[in-house]
Amino acid sequence: MTRSDTSGLTQLGASVALPASPDAAVIERVPSGNADTDYVVRFTAPEFTSLCPMTGQPDFAHIVIDYIPGDWLVESKSLKLYLGSFRNHGAFHEDCTVGIGRRGRVDPGSGRGPLPRARLMPETPRRGWRTFHGRRHGKTLRPNHRAWLEHDLPRLAVPGVGWDENPERLPVDLPALFGRACPVWLEVGFGGGEHMVHQAQLHPDTGIIGAEPFVNGVAMAIGHIRAAAVENIRIHAGDVRDLMDVLPEASIARAFLLYPDPWPKTKHHGRRFVTPEHLDPLARALAPGAEFRIATDIPDYVRQALQEVPRAGFTQTGGAGGDTHTPWPDWPGTRYEAKALREGRVPHYLTFRR
Ligand SMILES: C[S@@+](CC[C@H](N)C(=O)[O-])C[C@H]1O[C@@H](n2cnc3c(N)ncnc32)[C@H](O)[C@@H]1O
Repeated sequence: MTRSDTSGLTQLGASVALPASPDAAVIERVPSGNADTDYVVRFTAPEFTSLCPMTGQPDFAHIVIDYIPGDWLVESKSLKLYLGSFRNHGAFHEDCTVGIGRRGRVDPGSGRGPLPRARLMPETPRRGWRTFHGRRHGKTLRPNHRAWLEHDLPRLAVPGVGWDENPERLPVDLPALFGRACPVWLEVGFGGGEHMVHQAQLHPDTGIIGAEPFVNGVAMAIGHIRAAAVENIRIHAGDVRDLMDVLPEASIARAFLLYPDPWPKTKHHGRRFVTPEHLDPLARALAPGAEFRIATDIPDYVRQALQEVPRAGFTQTGGAGGDTHTPWPDWPGTRYEAKALREGRVPHYLTFRR
């Protein structure tokens, strides 16, 4: 093995403060010593952050940089410092990744000319930068809720949804997940899980995956799963968009969107689930003929759903012709619906077919 010549480096082995901006960062290099062999170097930054220029909040991403070294290797500490310097940098992720790619091509770090044959190819699909606008935590968890999350969630969780664990977004093996081949249903934002557990009891031959980022809701759902002793539920305790990435195409036989967050302000309508960002991946994951049920107490949500859901490749079947007030025969209601009724709002039930 050749020992790298590190004599030209200014940062390795020294205490170096995080550069104030990407422009202030210095990317350094060392001779590769293996210029006669083509090989790929992969550098992974699983917790890359920059600031969203709209909200000023951190946007997270998983960055994978692959390059063929040629005569030079990028010195890893300087690359880490460079990527870290985006922490307080306000830019959309496209600008960050394109900037990183350009910098890798043209900036030798030390002003000695471009890195020969080097290409930095940041792999940061937009999904890696998702901003979640809802709540993840509520009141302090009760000790039994904490214990359920600790003991039951690892067994119930869907493996391969997280970006660190599955950066290539390979599809989840659903038969392996449920221990058998079975129809699989998806519930988006199950809240406390009452409806999901009700359906799991009614349909023991079906596998149900529920997605819910609100950890207190997940804990409550685990309590219901325990009480009902159902075996056919799996949970993604996070954003359903991450789950939908890794659901195999046409794999889901039914989907439920029950009282999604209403986002009542006009400027927030783009955050609603009934937007292409959510509906397109849902349409991809649903099998042809699959049913998609939506319940909401917000008339403007009905309007947007009737406009957007058909555009994503669905046909309305229930609630067409104006009767949006008749629930499905197997409908138990939900906690949120009970609250809406108490507060005098009217439920609407819409059914679509993929
Ligand atoms: C108004 S509550 C309704 C809960 C439940 N479906 C009910 O009817 O009682 C909406 C739920 O959607 C969840 N949610 C919001 N955004 C989500 C996302 N991106 N992925 C999964 N769930 C989400 C929220 O955490 C919340 O629990």
